[in-house]
Amino acid sequence: MDSQKAAQRVGLASDTIVIHGGKPLTGRIEVRGAKNLVTKAMVAALLADDPSTLKSVPEISDVHVVRGLLEAHGVVVTEQAPGELLLDTTNVQSAHIAEINAHAGSSRIPILFCGPLLHQLGEAFIPDLGGCKIGDRPIDFHLNALRALGATVEKLDDGIRLTAPNGLSGARIELPYPSVGATEQVLLSAVRAKGTTELKNAAIEPEIMDLIAILQKMGAIISVEPNRVIVIEGVEKLHGYLHSAIFDRNEAASWASAALATRGDIVVGGAKQQELMTFLNVYRKAGGMFDVLEDGIRFWHPGTPLRPVMVETDVHPGFMTDWQQPLIVALTQAEGQSVVHETVYENRFGFTEALNEMGADIVVYKSGIASITRRVPRRPLEQAAVITGPTPLHGADVRVPDLRGGFSHLIAALAAEGTSTISNVGIISRGYELFIDKLEQLGADFELA
Ligand code: EPU
Repeated sequence: MDSQKAAQRVGLASDTIVIHGGKPLTGRIEVRGAKNLVTKAMVAALLADDPSTLKSVPEISDVHVVRGLLEAHGVVVTEQAPGELLLDTTNVQSAHIAEINAHAGSSRIPILFCGPLLHQLGEAFIPDLGGCKIGDRPIDFHLNALRALGATVEKLDDGIRLTAPNGLSGARIELPYPSVGATEQVLLSAVRAKGTTELKNAAIEPEIMDLIAILQKMGAIISVEPNRVIVIEGVEKLHGYLHSAIFDRNEAASWASAALATRGDIVVGGAKQQELMTFLNVYRKAGGMFDVLEDGIRFWHPGTPLRPVMVETDVHPGFMTDWQQPLIVALTQAEGQSVVHETVYENRFGFTEALNEMGADIVVYKSGIASITRRVPRRPLEQAAVITGPTPLHGADVRVPDLRGGFSHLIAALAAEGTSTISNVGIISRGYELFIDKLEQLGADFELA
């Protein structure tokens, strides 16, 4: 992950931040469109022959990556107003694999270009994929689904080439796991395939529902049926859309945890209750206070000791894997032992090492804790973190490992007594819009090094 490049993309002057902690974060910040919808919505525009307009686009480096990739394929992208992109797909063309590589860096987004490019051009090149280092993150579900829809997959030295000489055709597909990306892959590929596709064991995250809403605006026929079944009736042509992206619930949950960890009080403008219900339940059990406002949610520390919680990450409507890292920082201040089971990725507790250096008491069990009964069935890759609190945190020098882990390190440094130097913070700009400005708005004491 190229942190400096990510920082540059959003105009972040430095890749290192020095934080003087121990001060509550208070004030109001706004969240805009969700990273995990906006990037996919931009790809969906490729399916239409006329322009689309996407609103509430955040200033994050992942958006710049997708923009670069779209431009490499002949799409003209214009920022019509702050946060409003016009995506003109009138002249879509093939891009050279080196050019795709240059834009994609280590992002995983290129895999979702497959379906739209197969429809528009009959072929697609996908570079070797990266993304945050939070496990193996394979793409077998994607490739199997594309094969089922009629694509031919050829492995090259530097990536994958897909062709569909006879076009894509509807199929019955069952995912081994309700993968977010693979569900999006099927949606983006099957909407313009010949015939009907039935997708079983689909992911139903709010961002996926928003993508379906966009596709429906474009002319698609998609029904979400009980028990994770999505039926897509292929249509020949799609037209451009006008859409305002769903808010970023992962960012909202991150600032909520920051309020709890720093004994602060933060209003997250733009946050909505429905998409955060599972998070709000856990937040309340841990002692966190919240109030749902008309235009956001206020999160604050109760002023009394926090309580330990038991959490398992899961697909929606379960507790999102992206919420556990920031919450764990707050749990270091709860009175007693919290247990967090990670069941979505096999390597998402690496960030806890830095927290331990800052004074936390977190033990990671690589294969989960067998004796604990849990809501989510065990997965072979599951791990558990046992957090014993409360432990005062002190400043440290930390290098950010990935997006969510990195944000947690920021929160920990803000909660800790003393000074911390956090490097590689460019990674955080992949998914947290203007986080430096927001820290300033919330009264954090820091300087860019
Ligand atoms: N998986 C496979 N094979 C595949 C695809 C997935 O084995 O072909 C496995 C993964 O290895 C993982 C599990 O399935 O163990 C779930 O992966 P999923 O496909 O659901 O995740 P994703 O689409 O790669 C998106 C978000 C993640 C978020 C997850 C889970 C984007 C760009 N990324 O990833 O967000 O954690 O869904 O909700 O939408 C983040 O924002 O920091 C982030 C990592």
